[in-house]
Amino acid sequence: MLNFPKVIAHRGASWDAPENTLPAFDLAIKIGAPAIELDAKLSEDGFVVVHHDPTLDRTTNGKGNVWQKSLAELKKLDAGAWKGAQFAKTRIPTLTEVFDLARRKLLVNVELTNYETPNDRLVEKVVELVNRMKMQEQVFFSSFHPANLRRAHRLQPSIPLSLLTGTFQSPWLAHAWFAPFIPHQARHPENKQISAEFIQKCHARQLKVASYTVNDPTEMRQFFDWGIDGIFTDRPDVALGLLA
Ligand code: G3P
Ligand code: MG
Repeated sequence: MLNFPKVIAHRGASWDAPENTLPAFDLAIKIGAPAIELDAKLSEDGFVVVHHDPTLDRTTNGKGNVWQKSLAELKKLDAGAWKGAQFAKTRIPTLTEVFDLARRKLLVNVELTNYETPNDRLVEKVVELVNRMKMQEQVFFSSFHPANLRRAHRLQPSIPLSLLTGTFQSPWLAHAWFAPFIPHQARHPENKQISAEFIQKCHARQLKVASYTVNDPTEMRQFFDWGIDGIFTDRPDVALGLLA
């Protein structure tokens, strides 16, 4: 397992810059964050792009589903203006562009987010890209979809894997009752699922724990006091300040 990062900039430094864009990842580097998290999915023509929602409506000037747009169509959209005029004309990045930026500077947690299209070739494409760009030592994968972790493990067993859980899921998924059958070295639970006991139990099973999304400094301090391995935060500057 990689040297687990204590602070992971969630969708980049997304408190101050548009989430999942190069300015947000660049800001994470400037702040000194050791790691970023991003949401990877496929365009209609099979390119790995970085975008959180299944649809474009909230964070771009486009509409509709990401998986029904070609890369050329996605690249025309403005993914920054919603966050402030200074970010206008910021584009949805490809995973290739983010890897180019992050190389030798950041660990990259690639969340495999083909939740609407679970039978697509996202996992294969991401693994291929990681290998082609020689990012094997710098990435770890996560997903709410256990089958993605299985697939990733089959294709490239050396890349660390994390299982995401959340209270919005069915109990079977939220409590990860199937976990013994899914390869993973870390758990990424929602903040509401975290307790000192939960962290201890994971550690007893040699699992690291990193929780999302922890933006409140009081909660950050609490989780670090309980011995959590990492937090996903939109405010890496605040978390790093607190740890300093
Ligand atoms: O990977 C942590 C977190 O990003 C999971 O939830 O919805 O922000 O992708 P979400
Ligand atoms: Mg995510």
